[in-house]
Amino acid sequence: MYELISYIYTNHRQLMTLTNMHHILILNSKGGCGKTTISVNIASFFACWGVQVALADFDKQHSSTDWLRCRSKDNPRILSVAAWQEDYHIPDEAEYVIMDTPAGLDGEAMLALLKKADTILIPILPSPLDIRAAGRLIHDIMQQYNHLPNKPRIGIIANRVRRQTKIYNSLKRFIDKLDIDFIASLRDTQNYITSTSTGTSLFELPNWKKQKDLTGWCQLINWINYNEIFEVPKLEDTA
Ligand SMILES: Nc1ncnc2c1ncn2[C@@H]1O[C@H](COP(=O)(O)OP(=O)(O)OP(=O)(O)O)[C@@H](O)[C@H]1O
Ligand SMILES: [Mg+2]
Repeated sequence: MYELISYIYTNHRQLMTLTNMHHILILNSKGGCGKTTISVNIASFFACWGVQVALADFDKQHSSTDWLRCRSKDNPRILSVAAWQEDYHIPDEAEYVIMDTPAGLDGEAMLALLKKADTILIPILPSPLDIRAAGRLIHDIMQQYNHLPNKPRIGIIANRVRRQTKIYNSLKRFIDKLDIDFIASLRDTQNYITSTSTGTSLFELPNWKKQKDLTGWCQLINWINYNEIFEVPKLEDTA
């Protein structure tokens, strides 16, 4: 079932240089930009790879926890952390902690999460309102950056992209002007909707369905792992 993940990663895991318990914060105070979708897919990616991963849900709506509750025990395990509660605990065995955050996060609450992060991922939708809101968010993060103990890497993900549109080009121009990595563009596709409804992820879909999405995801995972060490496999290699 997980031939694809094995194909890409089996030979490369030893190259990982990350320290124990790497915190990945998925952040954008704008609602509906894909924080939960990206969080659960990253968590699933690492789980499929055989890495101990915790999904820490900081959102009182607990959508990523709901997703995890739908997940079959036959799928690779993801540790659940109800982080919207004050007394949450991250299991010691977690190598990666994927932090899904709520819309509207700002001020002290945002600073508290920024301080935990080793990596910050900012999903942005190609829309004028989302681009403007992202500008304000990035300004706020940069104002706090000197107070962040881990000096996290920050990367932007363009989400729900349709490449031939003017607004996608506007989003790219906006990102190009920032001094922040533009990591990947993720397609606007029903694949996320189909998979998340059953507690699975893009990586647990059949190869023919997910093939077009793997380029963006390989760029995203490579960036998280500091090295461009993964290649997009061809379909015939993974059949
Ligand atoms: N790349 C994508 N292609 C198609 N649909 C997507 C994509 N990413 C997210 N969606 C859909 O967009 C909607 C909002 O996504 P999601 O819940 O992940 O956003 P969010 O930022 O977590 O929202 P909130 O701020 O409310 O927590 C969901 O219905 C999700 O399935
Ligand atoms: Mg969400």
